[in-house]
Amino acid sequence: MRSSFPLFPEQASTLAGRVDAIYFFLVAVSGFFSLLIFGAIIYFAIKYHHRAGEEHAPGLVNDNLALEIAWTVVPLALTMIMFVWGAKVYFSMSRPPNDSLEIFVVGRQWMWKFQHPDGQREINELHVPLGQPVKLVIASEDVIHSFYVPAFRVKQDAVPGRYTTVWFEATKTGRFHMFCAEYCGTQHSGMIGRIVVLEPVQYAAWLSGDTAVPGAAMAASTLARAEGSVADRGHRLFQQLGCASCHLPDRQGIGPLLNGVFGNPVRLQDGRTTVADESYIRESILQPQAKITAGFQALMPAFQGRVNEEELMQLLAYIKSLKKG
Ligand code: CUA
Repeated sequence: MRSSFPLFPEQASTLAGRVDAIYFFLVAVSGFFSLLIFGAIIYFAIKYHHRAGEEHAPGLVNDNLALEIAWTVVPLALTMIMFVWGAKVYFSMSRPPNDSLEIFVVGRQWMWKFQHPDGQREINELHVPLGQPVKLVIASEDVIHSFYVPAFRVKQDAVPGRYTTVWFEATKTGRFHMFCAEYCGTQHSGMIGRIVVLEPVQYAAWLSGDTAVPGAAMAASTLARAEGSVADRGHRLFQQLGCASCHLPDRQGIGPLLNGVFGNPVRLQDGRTTVADESYIRESILQPQAKITAGFQALMPAFQGRVNEEELMQLLAYIKSLKKG
C-alpha cells in the first residue's frame, strides 16, 4: 500500500527526520485544536439549542482570570515551542558543515547543470557520496527556478543574479527524484532529474569514469580529465580574459591582489568594509564599479554579459583556491 500510494517521500538525508518531526508536531497540534473546536461547537449546539417554550438568556459572565491566563499561556507556550524548534532546524539547514563537498548548480530553461570540484559535469543527474555533507551553490541563467529533492527535504530557489546555497547529507544509497518547484515556463514540468547516491568507494570510481558504476558517463569524465578541475578552468579563463595582467600575484598590479581574499574582510574606497564572499566576488566581476577596494582606482571593465554562470563559477572556484602567500 505504502509503495503504490506513498503519503510521504522516503527519508534519505540527515535532515529528513528532523523536518518530518516538526511537521508532524504541527499537524498534531492543528488537528487537536480543530477537533476540540468542532467538538465544542457541536456539543454546545446540541446542549443549548432552542427548545419550544423556553425563554431565558444565560447569566452575564464578566471575567474569569484563570480562563484568561490559560488561553494566553497555553498558545504562547505552543507557539514558542514551534518557533524555537523550527529555528533550530532552519539554522542547521542553512549552515553547511565546513567539510562539505561543494558542487555548482546552474538552473536554466529547462535543465539542471551540475559541476563537481574535479571538473565532472552532469545534466539532470547528480552523483553524490553517501554519508558526506554536500553543499550546492546554485545560480540561474534566466528566470527563478527551485531546486527540490523531496527525499532529502531540501528546496532552494535558483535566483538570477545571485548565489543561493543548500546542503544535505544522504543516508541511503539509491536514486531520488529531483524537481524544479517554481513555475518557470512551458517545460517547467520537464525540469526534473535524479540524484544518485553512491557508496564513497563507488563515488570515487564514478568520478574517475568507471563505467561499471550506475549512470557513469565516460565522456563526461574524459572531458573532465582533459579540461581539469573547476578551479583549473577558472585559472585558464582568468588568463584568457586578461584578468591576470592587472591582478598580479605580487601586489604590484593595478588591481588588488586576489590571494587569500576569499572569505576575508575587504576595506572599500568609501570606508565601508565587506566580506569577500561568493556574492561579492560575483558582483566585482560583473560590475566592478559597485565596490572599489580602498587604494585602487575604478579601472576594471565590467564583465556583465561577457561571462556566463558556469564561467563565473569557474572564476570563483579559482579565486577561492588562491591562498595567501
Ligand atoms: Cu525551472 Cu520550473
